[in-house]
Amino acid sequence: MARRWRTLPLLLVTALAPSFSLAGLAFENTAIVRTIELGGSLVHVSTTYAVKALEPGQTTYQIALSKVERAKTSWLEAKVKGRTTPLELSEDESSTEHLLSVSLPKALAVNGTLNLVLETVQTHATHPFPEQAAQKEPQLLKYKTDLFTISPYTTLVQRTKIKSLAPNVISYTTPHDVDSFVRDGSVTRSGGTITYGPYHDIQTDTDFVAKYQQPVSVHYSFDHPVLEVKTLRRIAEISHWGSNLNIEDKIHLHNAGPTLKGHFSRLEYQSQNYHRKQASHILSDFALHLPPGVTNAYFYDQNGNVSTSHLRTAPSVAKGSKAMQYSVLELRPRYPVLGGWNYSYTIGFDTPLQDSVGYDAKNGIYMVGVPVMTNIPGTVVNDAEVKIILPEGAINVKFVSPFPELSSSMSTHISYLDTAGRPTVTFTYKDLTYKHTGMIYVSYQVPLSAHLKKVMSVGAAFFSLFAFAFIARRVDLNLHKK
Ligand SMILES: *[C@@H]1O[C@H](CO)[C@@H](O)[C@H](O)[C@H]1NC(C)=O
Ligand SMILES: *[C@@H]1O[C@H](CO)[C@@H](O)[C@H](O)[C@H]1NC(C)=O
Ligand SMILES: *[C@@H]1O[C@H](CO)[C@@H](O)[C@H](O)[C@H]1NC(C)=O
Repeated sequence: MARRWRTLPLLLVTALAPSFSLAGLAFENTAIVRTIELGGSLVHVSTTYAVKALEPGQTTYQIALSKVERAKTSWLEAKVKGRTTPLELSEDESSTEHLLSVSLPKALAVNGTLNLVLETVQTHATHPFPEQAAQKEPQLLKYKTDLFTISPYTTLVQRTKIKSLAPNVISYTTPHDVDSFVRDGSVTRSGGTITYGPYHDIQTDTDFVAKYQQPVSVHYSFDHPVLEVKTLRRIAEISHWGSNLNIEDKIHLHNAGPTLKGHFSRLEYQSQNYHRKQASHILSDFALHLPPGVTNAYFYDQNGNVSTSHLRTAPSVAKGSKAMQYSVLELRPRYPVLGGWNYSYTIGFDTPLQDSVGYDAKNGIYMVGVPVMTNIPGTVVNDAEVKIILPEGAINVKFVSPFPELSSSMSTHISYLDTAGRPTVTFTYKDLTYKHTGMIYVSYQVPLSAHLKKVMSVGAAFFSLFAFAFIARRVDLNLHKK
């Protein structure tokens, strides 16, 4: 259900690979091709390593990332090219470069070959340049990376392709001091694609890195808003009584594109809208995919209900069904969100509990799946907190996150009609992307006594409500009689 990176104890990794250069004897990279797809908040990097074993019985291949690149990488996965199952990875931060140890599906003999693909999503890797733009001006961004893909192994040939969606690349770096690796040109451009290399016979030693590694940057036009959710606070509340899962998100959204130069002209905005030449860096609306069977969806900001939202509900489906059904919530913020602007809002909705809870009658265990977040396309969530509030009296609470969390903790949430409060599990995360939309699973038991406790407290509340109504009615009747 949940895939976790099994981090070998650092000592063990260190013992297996005492140094960068010793590891270098085990393999040779016959080729490395790195493809970088430029975006706004998100940048995709896919690197293919054509690997050849030089020593017998090789089961672990090491991928190196610079510390800077690892810090920007918020999601990563290694696979054998053409396969779908991710390979097991462990990370070692103790050497100068960040090392990922990839467990190969089977040991490679001498001269055995394999194509490995490392896929990553980088966040906060681009920045607006210039930092300000007028309403009518295009949105230009800059992306910077290292020229060479480093590896603990010698590389016969490597190249890096940097792709911009829009063909108008403003400029890009021409590398220096690369003549000894180049046979025909150090960089070429074709439309929106810049290709660095092919570079031949790239060595592994640190001297090489110190001498030849260099930053290259691409300055390009990007036609969608650069969106960041600065904070996401999700509360998922499970109610056995209402047979309901309520999810509420408080979101602080930020347009991280170039800030607006001069004043915002609504007239210009409307005329651009009218001519369907909407400035690409202005966020005017977006759509969310919510679970099927959603009811009571709401969307409000500091000024109240935002009436321009629209929900198309897909019918509720049985849990575990593979049908890709979802409801669509279209949101149009109260005002267009320009570069540098923020928009804080709250959305919430209910889903039928049976769509996300399973019950194991034999052991009396409930298991609930709560999505970590609802993806806003193209957005990074810098800082997320997900609280799952369980029914009152729940015991033996266990939980698992679909990927490593920053922190997790248990507390008690007291709400209306509660006697003892509800066990609450809280997770925190940073730099989430559309790759992080998995489910948190929580299991718990609710002893019968807790059910009864609730019945009694609800009973008491109902009783006083009835008593109040009864008295009020009598008073009312008395008045009528007069
Ligand atoms: C591996 O390939 C090299 C070069 O083709 C060859 O000389 C060598 O004998 C091969 N080794 C084995 C064990 O097949
Ligand atoms: C808020 O706006 C939506 C969308 O128009 C509407 O359906 C809903 O009734 C409104 N809710 C309230 C509480 O006014
Ligand atoms: C947007 O929010 C950030 C904090 O997240 C704040 O620093 C910034 O000043 C806000 N921008 C505007 C235009 O209010």
